[in-house]
Amino acid sequence: MYPFWEVPFFTSGLVIALIATFHILPCHLATGAFWFIVFVERKAYKENRPELLEFIKKYSLLILIFCFVIGSLSGVGIWYAATVASPRGISGLIHNYVWGWATEWVFFIIEIASIYVYYYTIGKIDPKSHLMMGWLYAWAAWISMIIITGILAFMLTSGKWVETGGFFDGFFNRTYWPQLLTRTALMFCIAGVYAAIVASTLTNRQIRRELVRAAGLWGVLGMLAGLAFAAWYLYRLPGHAKELWLDQSLPYLGHLLNIAGASYAIVLLWFVICCVIRPRLARPVTGIVILIVLFLGIGAGEGFREGIRRPYIIDQYMYGNQIVARDIPAKHIKAEIPKFNKEGFLSHLFFRPDKIDPDNKTDLLRAGSVVVHYQCGNCHALDRFGKIRPMPKLLANLAPESPEDIEGLLESLGDYPFMPPFAGNDLDKKAASEYLFSIVRR
Ligand code: HEC
Repeated sequence: MYPFWEVPFFTSGLVIALIATFHILPCHLATGAFWFIVFVERKAYKENRPELLEFIKKYSLLILIFCFVIGSLSGVGIWYAATVASPRGISGLIHNYVWGWATEWVFFIIEIASIYVYYYTIGKIDPKSHLMMGWLYAWAAWISMIIITGILAFMLTSGKWVETGGFFDGFFNRTYWPQLLTRTALMFCIAGVYAAIVASTLTNRQIRRELVRAAGLWGVLGMLAGLAFAAWYLYRLPGHAKELWLDQSLPYLGHLLNIAGASYAIVLLWFVICCVIRPRLARPVTGIVILIVLFLGIGAGEGFREGIRRPYIIDQYMYGNQIVARDIPAKHIKAEIPKFNKEGFLSHLFFRPDKIDPDNKTDLLRAGSVVVHYQCGNCHALDRFGKIRPMPKLLANLAPESPEDIEGLLESLGDYPFMPPFAGNDLDKKAASEYLFSIVRR
């Protein structure tokens, strides 16, 4: 086990969630925008309307800065945050999908090179070559989505991989296609919002309205297709995920979906009313408000996607607290719970108290704090006034009267469909219970 990263009050998961939610905006814009740009550029050449190039210049500059400065920074941010929050989780993914990422990065480099060439050669090279550069970007960006979606979907539905350990058995899993198509449809929605904002700043009134309307139509079509694919995605969810959501084991999942649905409706209405029917209503300011609504919707939607994965961080293979859940013989991976139950959890930690006297309360509390941070701290804030699933409050609801009551809870932790079982021997359990009892909010 690596050292534990504690984020007071909010847990490390929320840090990743915030960065990742923000990252969706630039990354889906990066994949969707150039299909619209190529569409407008072809129109400009075909109908001989060089004035449309003003939009292309502004829009591609926005993509260049927003996606390739802010987007890249937040992408690196996800890697940093995920690596310290779940080093073993990331390591597990890298050991399986390093070539997936390597391939993605090849396309990523093509994207970066082609957008620079594209932007700086607008109106300077012959139209055919310039358009080719646009196509090159559009395809390279979408192919990077094809690849990363496989790894994301693997984390929820690892499929036959748990038996075979095969790259593609995990990659083309049961939620891969619906997720890829949903993201593909929604990238047009995100690109449409930004395109409408940029188009609404153009000086020529007629072109402004024409392009706002076109961006709105792309957005509407993307969102309608997205609706169908998202429904397919929900239908394809594995049984345990559907249970967490539909049986109300975790009621907040339903709330997240409602928030995502409400944001979806607002953005769709904005496209229809302010872009397609009355393009003169589209203004940069309302566009930015819509971006905020979109951000909330994405946060809720992605939060749902992450939430239904519990208790795992990688489906079937690794629990949210990074303990390996089962044998995967093809990869020479062994389940860790039996080992920890037999040999003790603390004894397998590198950073642990030097000596633990089972009859000394201070020793027990110190050791218990370590066990609980490792085993519960990824999902629960342990502070007294923590915000994310605060342990002191959740325990208080169960009104334990002694550390022994909590030992009973730990023994049955695995019965909850969203929590991993407790891993450790009697000493670990005793120490954890003492510590947990000491933090119950009274
Ligand atoms: C993979 C994430 C995860 C891990 C790890 C985890 N929990 Fe939880 N736990 C949850 C979720 C999700 C809930 C539901 C909270 C809610 O409804 O908001 C929960 C709820 C609880 C509750 C309230 C149960 C009830 O019936 O009201 C307790 C107590 C609890 N956890 C204790 C623990 C302890 C102790 C550990 C570590 C040994 C732990 N959890 C580890 C995810 C986790």
